[in-house]
Amino acid sequence: MMKPSMLRSLHSAATRGASHLSRRGYASEPGPERKVAVLGAAGGIGQPLSLLMKLNPLVSSLSLYDIAGTPGVAADVSHINTRSKVAGYQGEAELGKALEGADVVIIPAGVPRKPGMTRDDLFNINAGIVKALCTAISKYCPHALVNMISNPVNSTVPIAAEVFKKAGTYDEKRLFGVTTLDVVRAKTFYAGKANVPVDGVNVPVVGGHAGITILPLFSQATPKANLDDDVIKALTKRTQDGGTEVVEAKAGKGSATLSMAYAGALFADACLKGLNGVPDVVECSFVQSTITELPFFASKVRLGKNGVEEVLGLGPLSDFEKQGLESLKGELKSSIEKGIKFANQ
Ligand code: NAI
Repeated sequence: MMKPSMLRSLHSAATRGASHLSRRGYASEPGPERKVAVLGAAGGIGQPLSLLMKLNPLVSSLSLYDIAGTPGVAADVSHINTRSKVAGYQGEAELGKALEGADVVIIPAGVPRKPGMTRDDLFNINAGIVKALCTAISKYCPHALVNMISNPVNSTVPIAAEVFKKAGTYDEKRLFGVTTLDVVRAKTFYAGKANVPVDGVNVPVVGGHAGITILPLFSQATPKANLDDDVIKALTKRTQDGGTEVVEAKAGKGSATLSMAYAGALFADACLKGLNGVPDVVECSFVQSTITELPFFASKVRLGKNGVEEVLGLGPLSDFEKQGLESLKGELKSSIEKGIKFANQ
């Protein structure tokens, strides 16, 4: 798992790669060729995410797609002296070219929340966007790993699955709802309360990606700290409401973008490492699952050359977490069903 010193290490690795290239004068690249496409690349998340993916030495080709604004973002990012070649694509007519040959497709396209809105309120607009983008993915890069950021993730992932099923390209190992921001938040908040260095903290977050469906497992957090029950409750609530905290602080100007870009870059990096055969790459993600009775569920997932290598179980839960698990199931089930119904309309 990549540490928060990601930027520094990514940049130095990339710089090493670049100077190596100019010294030797031929293309001896670090690792295989990998194309990453960002759909919604000109947005609040899309721009910093494109920057972070440009810093990732595992990427050889970075494809930036949006309905507007991508030529500028692509020109800007392309001047950074790291490994990947950058191309910008604007408008539906260019979507096919943006996707062709992609190994990983990251989707932060859609509208973000405003104060007073839930993730579910975004459903009508974002569901249509995701459906159209996934239809194109099944046509132009059916084997890509899809990292779904667009909310409500609890519904957009089932929508994507249905679109791929209809196109005959569905592979449950290749579809991921990005819940990494919940993990990033849980780690940060836990480190603050436990008074331990945040660098070494691990906290699994399971369930889904909205309100009470977000279930951080602080009983499994490491390093261990003896936090009181009421502190654990407050940490759980803060993790569940982390998105709303940002939406309210931004007061109408959108939702989390910078921390989300960081989290999205971490997750995409894990997918690339898995594809490249790096062993023991484990991240939490919302995937097709049999670990509960729900068809999709977020839990720890081992990533490999084909995407999901293994969906890991929940491990031992505290009574508080067992209760949280039972109470999230109803909402998560109905969000999943809402997505499936929409896709089949
Ligand atoms: P934004 O409005 O700043 O950017 C969205 C971008 O998507 C815009 O550039 C827009 O032109 C583009 N877009 C719209 N329709 C498109 C289409 N058909 N094809 C390609 N691009 C299209 O929004 P922001 O803040 O970047 O958020 C994007 C999404 O990410 C929202 O759905 C938001 O709820 C979600 N999100 C997810 C999080 C997570 O943890 N999974 C956290 C924060 C936000």
